[in-house]
Amino acid sequence: MNFIAEKTSNLKGEVVCPGDKSISQRILMIGSLLDQDIEITGFLNALDPLSTLNALSSVGVKIKNDNTKIKIFNKTNFISPKNDINLGNSGTGMRLMMGFISGLSIDANLVGDHSLSKRPMMRVANPLNDMGSNITCTNELPPVLIKRGNIVNNYKYELPIASAQVKSSILLAALTAKKNVTVIEPSATRDHTEKMIEHFNGDIEAHFKDGKNYIKLLTSNLTSNSSYEIVGDFSSASFLIVACLISKNSRILIKNVGLNHTRSGLINLLKKMGANINIVNQSKKSNEDVGDLEVFSSELVGVDVPEEIIPNIIDEIPIFSIAASFANGETSIKGASELRVKESDRLEAIADGLKALNIKYELYDDGIKIFGQNKNITPRNYVNSYGDHRIAMSFLIASVRSNSEIMVEDCENILTSFPNFVETMNSLGMKIYEK
Ligand code: S3P
Repeated sequence: MNFIAEKTSNLKGEVVCPGDKSISQRILMIGSLLDQDIEITGFLNALDPLSTLNALSSVGVKIKNDNTKIKIFNKTNFISPKNDINLGNSGTGMRLMMGFISGLSIDANLVGDHSLSKRPMMRVANPLNDMGSNITCTNELPPVLIKRGNIVNNYKYELPIASAQVKSSILLAALTAKKNVTVIEPSATRDHTEKMIEHFNGDIEAHFKDGKNYIKLLTSNLTSNSSYEIVGDFSSASFLIVACLISKNSRILIKNVGLNHTRSGLINLLKKMGANINIVNQSKKSNEDVGDLEVFSSELVGVDVPEEIIPNIIDEIPIFSIAASFANGETSIKGASELRVKESDRLEAIADGLKALNIKYELYDDGIKIFGQNKNITPRNYVNSYGDHRIAMSFLIASVRSNSEIMVEDCENILTSFPNFVETMNSLGMKIYEK
């Protein structure tokens, strides 16, 4: 499925941010371990969370999804599924389910689509096996075969790379096995798992010492508050933010955006570049920070991105590279080699797209330098999204500063994270349609 984004200029209007993908997946897992049924609102009905929902159903969790609310019926008798569990495109779904299943003493075989089948799984399988799980990958990749193991008590693991998926997988294994665990991360990654466990009265504590984040989870029974409200996805909001900043005479309001500080580093980075963004109506929902974002067209300048904030902006780098393309001066991103093992090799995909749009860059093993300029672009080719949702959405957004339409190929996977992307952007003034 290819999309065309016609040349447009100003954006105006108000939209509600779609539900958070990371939180939607976590609440299905953690919500199925509570002492009573729970109703969930704000769930992201997109392919990735739905793959996780199917995975949980196949291990015995009773879940009802009526598209506005999810209900989880608790006191589950977990079972080994007869068929493979297909996690589709979802790295979070597969990696977190590896931990979740490992603690349950059941067997399962996890498979994924073409992209997921090429993503590294030993970063999760190794510590889980060390913890007592029995996982075999295929040449270090999916399919992932999990045989019942025996999770040990008081396991301690220091992550070699900053990864919220690895951290969460280990925490979930301990949670389902009812064991204590300590995870140490080299720098803070998104902490939705910890916040959710805390919200349901689990015994979890995190503190920084000598630049590292120590997270300690003690065996606990999670108790339900009977409902949970999922905040909007900051990563989805970032497409709207950048579209508005780089277009002319624009002002938009994005409501209900999750503002967890381990996710929202892009706001400070863009502000450093001159972005005019106001945060209003700040509050807390289900232990997560949330607010509305008022965004205005802004003249941006290039910036050197501090390496230590990379884990905080990891999913926003594709759309950030579009902001950098229309900022005056150079923007340099380093220390981001993790981008090479996302839904696509995102450094390569960004570079390829910039080339198609006639934007100058230098590509490195672990980053990219973009030579931005405050002029409209004249695309010289189609953009290949490599089947990656965030690459597809980023390059469609560039059409607000293009002299002609932009065609992006292979856009199906926008459905994994932001099913209403086209309607949302068009409601603000963009003109995106299927070709
Ligand atoms: C996620 C963590 C991040 C992110 C991914 C979602 C999560 O990956 O890129 O899209 O929900 O835990 P890392 O494991 O590299 O932090």
